[in-house]
Amino acid sequence: MLKRGVTHSNDPFHWPVLGTTGKDGCNLRTVILRQLLLPDRILVCYSDARATKAQDIGNYSKVSWLFYHPEKKVQLRISGQATCHRDDQFADDQWAATKITHRLDFCATQPPGTPVHKPSSGLPDFLLKKTPTLLESKRSRKNFMAISCTIDSIDWLMLRALGHRRARFDWDEDRLRATWLIP
Ligand SMILES: Cc1cc2nc3c(=O)[nH]c(=O)nc-3n(C[C@H](O)[C@H](O)[C@H](O)COP(=O)(O)O)c2cc1C
Repeated sequence: MLKRGVTHSNDPFHWPVLGTTGKDGCNLRTVILRQLLLPDRILVCYSDARATKAQDIGNYSKVSWLFYHPEKKVQLRISGQATCHRDDQFADDQWAATKITHRLDFCATQPPGTPVHKPSSGLPDFLLKKTPTLLESKRSRKNFMAISCTIDSIDWLMLRALGHRRARFDWDEDRLRATWLIP
């Protein structure tokens, strides 16, 4: 299901919620699941490097993910250790894989969350109402960050009218412990 979530943009697992810990408590936001790297159990999403989640992960690397598939009635609660990649090979490779049209997400002049006087996309004038050219999109590379997260545990829940099912998977290094749980 996670693999399908990466490749199918209309699949509910394409938009998980990523939870981080900030100084005032937990911060939740929807992100797009970009990759699942196996056998390393790594989930990948992208962010503006200036966003709150980047600071949160810098201060405390443990994160949580929430996935729910309403048709299959399956919930996954995943926790793991996240790393922010800005200037390394991993970030370069992920950046190379982004579509130019998606790079608009990293082109805002000011950091995400900056208060402004009127509704604004934050994009510079020369990019309004157009997709960036390859050259223009390269300017936003400095704002791009890939977040990788190594999965430590998965809490799996499947809802069924005649009785739900729940299981937990924990990895200690590469050793897996799995157990059924009362839902
Ligand atoms: C459907 C959907 C997909 C989103 N995908 C992403 C994403 O992949 N990466 C991202 O940084 N923000 C994404 N966002 C915006 C975030 O939810 C959030 O508003 C933004 O990242 C700022 O969060 P932060 O300040 O907590 O870092 C998405 C929002 C929606 C509604």
